[in-house]
Amino acid sequence: MDILSAISSARLVPVVVLDDAEDADPLAQALVAGGLPLAEVTFRTAAAQDSIRVMAQRGDIIVGAGTILTAEQVDQAVAAGAAYVVSPGLSRAVVERCREHDVLALPGAVTATELQAALELGLTTVKFFPAGTSGGPAAIAALTAPFRSLSFVPTGGISPANLHEYLALPAVTAVGGSWMVPQDRMREGDFTSITELTAQAVALAQAAHRPQPPLESQDTSRPNAHRRGNEGTT
Ligand code: 3PG
Repeated sequence: MDILSAISSARLVPVVVLDDAEDADPLAQALVAGGLPLAEVTFRTAAAQDSIRVMAQRGDIIVGAGTILTAEQVDQAVAAGAAYVVSPGLSRAVVERCREHDVLALPGAVTATELQAALELGLTTVKFFPAGTSGGPAAIAALTAPFRSLSFVPTGGISPANLHEYLALPAVTAVGGSWMVPQDRMREGDFTSITELTAQAVALAQAAHRPQPPLESQDTSRPNAHRRGNEGTT
């Protein structure tokens, strides 16, 4: 299964901030036990690269790198074993370096101008960040009208209370968020709670209405038809 298919099937991406790479293995175990073998490990701490390495070596969880701001960080993330790369915004340098490594790039884009630039870079899926303060589901629905071939992974301000509003939109592949992995629980070594929060989120996401993709995206003769490819680097 390619990375975007795995993200689409899970409908959820836990966004993780690890201060200590020692927590990486128990965290991966907690996510897998909660039914979510997927994590976006953010490059916001010195422990990010080692944490990705530890998690990727397990072989039972798909690990992406988040908060990637530069092409050099793409190199570091991929060297550590990241299977895909997420950026808060749209950077040509980051997307092109991902393409060189043949890893999926999932950059942030929230305005019509940014989405048009994403299309010009050959992308089919973007992170919609920060989702809550960028207009939420209503903004995604409005942007889908002109950008029919784009899919979104909204992140930022999403919680168990509102994830169904995003997942009800045909153009939403999955939602991301940090609520499944609270930093205070991790600091306390309370991985049982993380498994419980994750299992609750998985149940909510699976129960949320799963809309049919638009007719356009079901036409497999179109290059972007399956809403998976992001320029074929999967
Ligand atoms: C991200 O990097 O995607 C966000 O920090 C996650 O946003 P949240 O903490 O509101 O879930």
